[in-house]
Amino acid sequence: MPSSLLRRKPLQLEPGGERQLVRTLSWPHLMALGVGAIVGTGILTLIGVGAAKAGPAVILSFAVAGAICACAALAYAEMATTIPVSGSAYTYSYVVLGEVLAWIIGWSLILEYSLVVSAVAVGWSGYAAPLLESWLGVPTALMRGPEAGGIVNLPAVGIIVVVAVLLLRGTRESATVNAALVLVKIAALVVFVAFALPAFDAAHLEPFDPYGFPKRVGADGVERGVMAAAAIIFFAFYGFDAIATAAEETRNPGRDLMIGIVGSMAACVLIYVAVAVAAVGAVSYTRFADSPEPLALILRELGRPLVAQYLAASAVIALPTVILAFFYGQSRIFFTMARDGMLPQGLAQVSSTGTPVRITLFTAAVVTVLAGFVPLGELAALANAGTLAAFVAVAACMLVMRLRDPDAPRTFRAPVPWLIGPVTILGCGYLFLSLPATTQLWFAIWNVFGLVFYALYGRKHAVAAAG
Ligand code: ALA
Repeated sequence: MPSSLLRRKPLQLEPGGERQLVRTLSWPHLMALGVGAIVGTGILTLIGVGAAKAGPAVILSFAVAGAICACAALAYAEMATTIPVSGSAYTYSYVVLGEVLAWIIGWSLILEYSLVVSAVAVGWSGYAAPLLESWLGVPTALMRGPEAGGIVNLPAVGIIVVVAVLLLRGTRESATVNAALVLVKIAALVVFVAFALPAFDAAHLEPFDPYGFPKRVGADGVERGVMAAAAIIFFAFYGFDAIATAAEETRNPGRDLMIGIVGSMAACVLIYVAVAVAAVGAVSYTRFADSPEPLALILRELGRPLVAQYLAASAVIALPTVILAFFYGQSRIFFTMARDGMLPQGLAQVSSTGTPVRITLFTAAVVTVLAGFVPLGELAALANAGTLAAFVAVAACMLVMRLRDPDAPRTFRAPVPWLIGPVTILGCGYLFLSLPATTQLWFAIWNVFGLVFYALYGRKHAVAAAG
């Protein structure tokens, strides 16, 4: 193998990384940051896609995906504090595993971040469309994508355009707005549980596990089972890298990062499992399977139309921050890769507002088309494939660094690394195998395309090639 494929980026802080940020954050801030980026379309909408694949056992799918993500989150925290510079999993891989793997991870992150933007926009539209119909009289039929008998998902396209304009104007997530919206989201989920749980009927949980545990292809060609659902539900749990990136601003990173990451993951697992139990107990899962707004539908079925409207309005208000966070993250990854020479630098030029205008416009065009025409389940599945690759890389980087440089200063040390590292790698591998076969194929095609680009461009232009 040519040595250039294995060349590593030296571990040195970049100009931005050397700047000492003021340490103002402690664990409650970190938990707000984490929960703000994590809670979104996964729990609000994909619960319906998951229920269609696993029946009432979607509760188990939440528990499995949550446990694997909790392990990944700890590995992430260790790497983020050891290599506290931009680029997340891509940069860790470049420093620890070598250039070609770093390329694959960076290319996977671009896929992940872009598709999360599309998927959350489609999830947003599922809740926004009925509200737009009842408040403004716009027929819902005009607002559905092709999978629901419409032509183009116009609300999803509209929200992406709005967020892109905000980003072009230099908007960043604000801690205060984020904290307020976290409360809006959590309150909506707590209200859902409070209204749905009293209607719990154990008969709705029978049969609990109609499709079995591992992924199985049905006679209709659809993949189902607890793991098939977990591979989609996985979407609901990520976004915690937002916490890891705040490491430099944390007062007592060793303690606060641990509490922030484990706390927000634990909070999300608990809330999600409570929502899932309340949902499948309140009505038969067949009623809300594959619904574009499953939680609102359940509340309406329970005779609570006003509470359903409140929940939908909360989703409509709070979800755009998730879109903003991932859209911004996408341009940061792209920017870091372009600075390393892996992607054309011209694309990463920033305007006076500090926004990479070309990347933002290009991303907006691509994710708008995807959100307009592709069903949510397919977008989420492919976003998950990219994220799973990144999580495997982060856990591998943590283990390799522990072996190669056991005494390197680590602000945060993951507990029992030789347990959580392998659990992350094997768990993410199993989730990947549980994704739909078409998703695996698309992910392979994406990477073949990426590797051709790397061979023709990145390998020669990489800044590391000069040194
Ligand atoms: N975890 C985020 C969501 O569910 C991506 O929307």
